[in-house]
Amino acid sequence: MRVLGIETSCDETGVAVYGEPGGLLAHRIHSQIALHARYGGVVPELASRDHVRRLLPLIDEVLQEAGLARQDLDGIAYTRGPGLIGALMVGSALARSLAWALGIPAIGVHHMEAHLLAPMLEEPAPAFPFVALLVSGGHTMLVQVAGIGRYRLLGESLDDAAGEAFDKTAKLLELPYPGGPALEALAREGDPQRFQFPRPMTDRPGLDFSFSGLKTFALNTIRAHGPEARADIARAFQDAVVDTLVIKCRRALEQTGSSRLVIAGGVSANQALREQLRALGERLNATVYYPRPQLCTDNGAMVAYAGYCRLRAGEQEALDFSPTARWPLETLREPAA
Ligand code: KG4
Ligand code: ZN
Repeated sequence: MRVLGIETSCDETGVAVYGEPGGLLAHRIHSQIALHARYGGVVPELASRDHVRRLLPLIDEVLQEAGLARQDLDGIAYTRGPGLIGALMVGSALARSLAWALGIPAIGVHHMEAHLLAPMLEEPAPAFPFVALLVSGGHTMLVQVAGIGRYRLLGESLDDAAGEAFDKTAKLLELPYPGGPALEALAREGDPQRFQFPRPMTDRPGLDFSFSGLKTFALNTIRAHGPEARADIARAFQDAVVDTLVIKCRRALEQTGSSRLVIAGGVSANQALREQLRALGERLNATVYYPRPQLCTDNGAMVAYAGYCRLRAGEQEALDFSPTARWPLETLREPAA
């Protein structure tokens, strides 16, 4: 079975083919960074239009790279939500039309389930059950994963997502969009001793997060110390986010008795976070799994894989299924024929 995956939930057009045998047969990402950079963030209407422009050529490139014709596909997976509704509609309309024309099934995939399964595309892949830390621009969640579609939410952000906090603080530091990677680069030059930022919500039990206060803390520090302190502020901010995530991951592993931790979503590309979680794993005798940096941020490979898993289990999608900007992960169920 070979499944084409299409990701258009935000500012990356991602296309891939996953199949057995062979695994990930080809994947391509077209980033819209250059398109949105001058606006300092994603402009939804421009994002949708660019997905329209890029999607068909990207599908042709991926099929060519995989050495396949459209007729060789057995199913098409697309991101159904959560995300920008216009951008989602582009991917879902194209995926469902193409599937209908080819007489093969289409399947709408949950974007965060796709992120959560991305480490399965790597060697060694984590076995179920595991604890997943999902850290993206829109979500920060700790999830207990018993199998595909068997998710228990352990904790989540009550305000800004981790990636959102990176992006907003980067803006305060006058860094270009996208803020996360730029802030990480600046933090590398910073002095870790100069400023101490709080570790929000770590002084009480529980696995929820709150990151919006850190951005205010950063703003006040910038005002007090001026632009000369930018790198030190970036470092203090990043250390605070990373430390907070590590503390909650430790609690989640202890609470569930799990010895496997999966990290996914855009912020999991952050090297400081990866390094600290790897060290946590060593201390707790747990194995930490994360996808290669390219598959941490939005991509078509994770969508193709999630769709493959569900189609292989015989899941079918109703014809009146439509994209959705909001879609809680906990409402997902095991694949059903
Ligand atoms: O998963 P993703 O590509 O898109 C969403 O589903 O949101 O995540 C994007 C987020 C952005 O907030 C971006 O700034 C952040 O991930 N990000 C990073 C890094 N790379 C991407 N944050 C910190 N350090 C990074 N290296
Ligand atoms: Zn994402």
